[in-house]
Amino acid sequence: MRLDKFICKSTELTRNEAKKLLKSGEVEVNGEVIKNPATQVHENNTITVDGQVLQARSSRYIILHKPLDTICSNVDEGYPSLLHLIDVDKAFDLHIAGRLDADTTGLVLITDDGRWSHNIITPNKECQKVYRVQLSRPIKDEFIETFKIGVQLQGEDGLTKPAILEIISDKEVLLTITEGKYHQVKRMFAAVGNRVIGLHREQIGDVKLDSLALGEWRYLNEKEVESFNY
Ligand code: URA
Repeated sequence: MRLDKFICKSTELTRNEAKKLLKSGEVEVNGEVIKNPATQVHENNTITVDGQVLQARSSRYIILHKPLDTICSNVDEGYPSLLHLIDVDKAFDLHIAGRLDADTTGLVLITDDGRWSHNIITPNKECQKVYRVQLSRPIKDEFIETFKIGVQLQGEDGLTKPAILEIISDKEVLLTITEGKYHQVKRMFAAVGNRVIGLHREQIGDVKLDSLALGEWRYLNEKEVESFNY
């Protein structure tokens, strides 16, 4: 991780304050003064400020039940960022592992561990995301096979990866996908002549929302965190 980020993680300093500290020449990495904030450091490096060894705080892993009209961004843009809902120190240093639209509710995973969130987001790891979808028109059984093969999204090369469509009733389905293209679920149903009128994410990998109330959050337990370390 970058040296300025490491300093933020192990102190109460903001990124700008960490940069100023570095400029002052008070920070040493393995006994050598380092001023460049972009220098890459690892857990086994000894990083000191004025001779005091810094210990990085352990990473944070959070599940939140996203309400409507909040956005998965670190800045407020039209709607407030859902990070306002998390009353922890430096909440805006966290990032969201797989965004939901402002009009989508449901499970959001939030962390400051970039390697962990990468495992959730990258299509290569095929991490499953389950959405409950309300549709404007009745869905036909034949689309189970269509979604399994993949559909062509407007403006994309190639078909979507195989998805699992489970029909709950004529206008309600569960859709499991392993990608996270922009507005993917809405575009998949648009590609087969339907329209999403309600969207809710219920599950990512083995982690479920269960009884977490709208707008509430909790830390993930160790087993849940480990389930994405593959
Ligand atoms: N697909 C969408 O279209 N919107 C979301 O919020 C998530 C997946």
